[in-house]
Amino acid sequence: MGTKTAVVTGATSGLGQAAALALGAAGWRVLVVGRDAGRGAEVAKQAGNGSEFVKADLFSLADVRRLAGVLAEKAPALDLLVNNAGGVFSKGPATVDGLEQTFALNVAAPFTLTEGLLGALEAGKGRVVNVVTGIQNGFSTKLEQVVGPKATGGMFAYVRNKAVLLTLTRAQQQRHGARGITFVALHPGIIPTTRFGQSMTGFNPFTTIGPFFSKLFGIGVTEAVAASRYVKVGTEAVEGGGYYYEGVLRPAPKQALDQSFVDSVWSLVATEVQAGKQAA
Ligand SMILES: NC(=O)c1ccc[n+]([C@@H]2O[C@H](COP(=O)([O-])OP(=O)(O)OC[C@H]3O[C@@H](n4cnc5c(N)ncnc54)[C@H](OP(=O)(O)O)[C@@H]3O)[C@@H](O)[C@H]2O)c1
Repeated sequence: MGTKTAVVTGATSGLGQAAALALGAAGWRVLVVGRDAGRGAEVAKQAGNGSEFVKADLFSLADVRRLAGVLAEKAPALDLLVNNAGGVFSKGPATVDGLEQTFALNVAAPFTLTEGLLGALEAGKGRVVNVVTGIQNGFSTKLEQVVGPKATGGMFAYVRNKAVLLTLTRAQQQRHGARGITFVALHPGIIPTTRFGQSMTGFNPFTTIGPFFSKLFGIGVTEAVAASRYVKVGTEAVEGGGYYYEGVLRPAPKQALDQSFVDSVWSLVATEVQAGKQAA
């Protein structure tokens, strides 16, 4: 069997970089997606196996669509797409597509990139890993707070948008699974050493009390441990898609199992991305 190819977004730093290097060490060719050409080229070089850096700004849906075209040319039969890039943002200006930033990066970009790569993923009988968080488990997300005038920035927006991405993963499996593509959501664990949260202004629980409590209760893991989870989840056989919590397959949280919520999430995301396309 030839070398397998993975696309990893947000692979110029943090968990994406760690995952790209772990995949490279496991023999994968990695298409390293990010904004910084210098850091990206270095990660690709270290990953080896003919890995390459591909530049894109995931805040722009036009750029995400262009990126999908470039990646499909480089990997017409794609084995793995890791939608890792994500983050938490204070309420700020909308993106060029008129989207709230948290929604744009954590939901609209992975949705659009995946749709643009469906042909390549089908040809490779590939896997899509959407990186989420476990914080939302036990909470209920109101979709009117995700987009539109009630959408906030900050920690709650982050948690809601990751709940939407987790639910979207189930919708994607339902719609595209018959093409031989599997869709999984991964909560990688709590990893206090990345730059996560630094793009927020004002009081920031992720960079202040978060690391303190994670140390106090011993719940954090290293980037290397998280990276091994990305590799496992990207390669382990899973029938009909799934949700991995720290590398262990679990039932999805209750709300993500509610079919009417799954359908609402799909139509909300598809509608917003379509509206963004018109705004652009
Ligand atoms: N750390 C944790 O404890 C934790 C826990 C659960 C889930 N997660 C999730 O894990 C993923 C990785 O997080 P991390 O901890 O590694 O955070 P991070 O260090 O902040 O990394 C985020 C990555 O996303 C990229 N990115 C941000 N905006 C982008 C844009 N507009 N276009 C292209 N790339 C962009 C960043 O690129 P630059 O290098 O250019 O900034 C960076 O590589 C995220 O989805 C996060 O929500 C993290």
